[in-house]
Amino acid sequence: MKFFVDTADTAEIRDLAETGLLDGVTTNPSLVAKTGRKFLTVVEEICGLVAGPVSAEVTATDFATMLREGHTLAAIAPNVCVKVPLTLAGLKTCKALSAENIKVNVTLCFSAAQAILAAKAGATFVSPFVGRLDDIGEDGMQLIADIVQIYRQYETFTTEVLVASVRHPIHVVAAAKLGAHVATLPPDVLRKLALHPLTDKGLATFLADWAKTGQSIPQA
Ligand code: E4P
Repeated sequence: MKFFVDTADTAEIRDLAETGLLDGVTTNPSLVAKTGRKFLTVVEEICGLVAGPVSAEVTATDFATMLREGHTLAAIAPNVCVKVPLTLAGLKTCKALSAENIKVNVTLCFSAAQAILAAKAGATFVSPFVGRLDDIGEDGMQLIADIVQIYRQYETFTTEVLVASVRHPIHVVAAAKLGAHVATLPPDVLRKLALHPLTDKGLATFLADWAKTGQSIPQA
């Protein structure tokens, strides 16, 4: 399973990239707005920090403008993945950009029917938002199960399921059990994956016992 980080904060991305656990980055207009920085500059900087796909979202809603914006974003770096909304115009843009071998992430997916269209439009990734579905009393993870099951039926569907709007580690584990290809995680959720109180407790005991030996391991 690949892990993307869902942020436009370059300090966070740099820090997480150094762990070697990061396979890519997703941004959206709200995350970019939070930085207060220029969008294209931020995208260029992020593309230099990670080798994997960096999703950068168009902000137009009509096909012609989305396509032009997509070309602008794709020209920033070879690892840019143009993010388009799951609308008919977005799908048409996805089809056109994919035909030019530009990576596309179709975002704001909330139903299996929408995910089928994203695959037919040649999307590199489809982003179902699990947390936002949970928020309105629907079952976000059931949508992931449905999409994974449907995509497995068709060899021609090469779109990867990118689990988005992830709120906690349980979402990540559930998505992994279902075989989702990617999860995009807020930085704090990515860090939480490594945490367990018994790990901290066990480590404290080991270090205390080790200190009693008076030894140290020579550094190579
Ligand atoms: C994905 O690409 C989106 O940026 C993101 O996961 C949305 O998450 P939210 O529902 O926490 O805003």
